[in-house]
Amino acid sequence: MSNVRPESMERITTEALAQAFIAEQVAAVKAQVGDKKVLLALSGGVDSSVVAALLIKAIGKNLVCVHVNHGLLRKGEPEQVIEVFRNQMDANLVYVDAVDRFLDKLAGVVEPEKKRKIIGAEFIRVFEEEARKQDGIEFLAQGTIYPDILESGPVKAHHNVGGLPEDLKFELVEPLKFLFKDEVRVVGKALGLPDNMVFRQPFPGPGLGVRCLGAITRDRLEAVRESDAILREEFAKNGLEGKVWQYFTVIPDFKSVGVKDGKRSFEWPVILRAVNTKDAMTATVEDVPFALLQHITARITAEVKGVNRVLFDLTPKPTGTIEWE
Ligand code: XMP
Repeated sequence: MSNVRPESMERITTEALAQAFIAEQVAAVKAQVGDKKVLLALSGGVDSSVVAALLIKAIGKNLVCVHVNHGLLRKGEPEQVIEVFRNQMDANLVYVDAVDRFLDKLAGVVEPEKKRKIIGAEFIRVFEEEARKQDGIEFLAQGTIYPDILESGPVKAHHNVGGLPEDLKFELVEPLKFLFKDEVRVVGKALGLPDNMVFRQPFPGPGLGVRCLGAITRDRLEAVRESDAILREEFAKNGLEGKVWQYFTVIPDFKSVGVKDGKRSFEWPVILRAVNTKDAMTATVEDVPFALLQHITARITAEVKGVNRVLFDLTPKPTGTIEWE
């Protein structure tokens, strides 16, 4: 099949165009897979969520969604995947709690690229194990979108479950492969997915693993997850969600001296990052109101265990990258 978007294909900008696309793809998926089962790695990101919702419409429980919780997801994400797909859409969802497996493998590993490799390889292993438990799977659905094919985006492709062993090479089902991200969002909305899933900011495949700098420890991972949740909550409350391209917290692997409850404390700092970009090749720093920064600082230092300082990263890309690792 061609990997070039047909010239005749209209940009999907409205609900009506999205519904037409959905009807067309539902028919195409049914024709491709018949009554066979399809496997999907459902991360809860925009692309895999939209593929899941589309395929549930087409083939119902013959879609087997596997959600791997590697312990590096943001606060509330695994719960939302279960709520939306299992409870609301009645999906055939396999939830795999692989938190200990990932964190044990990552223990003591400092080098960012090594951390990425371990997370990627372990993900394939867990997914492979789940695939082998399922009978009669002949197809693998993927949230490939057009920029992945064009390879123009610097955002590294994260939804391709490449690397599965030879005997698990399934035929691919890629209903979004000619869509750009904004079109995927319009389709996701038309499929009834919640706004906070459809308009979610980019989140790297290795997740919080590259925001908990150096060797990942459970206590610092929890601190980065909790501080990230506070940042997201405050940005949403103050109209910055959907306006700022990407924002998150980072926790370094050093401590500093502070004072808490009248006593000397020796705890970690949390770094806030909020950037805008078109293509992630260069980025500028969002001019976050100072009063909001102070409020977020007060909340993080009061609510997040083990944190006594908050810093704001003023560095554009270049010279910084968006992530710290
Ligand atoms: P950098 O840090 O390179 O980030 O300026 C550019 C964009 O890419 C995302 N990013 C990743 N995405 N796997 C991913 O799926 C990764 O390993 C990875 N590293 C960075 C980053 O969040 C930003 O949007």
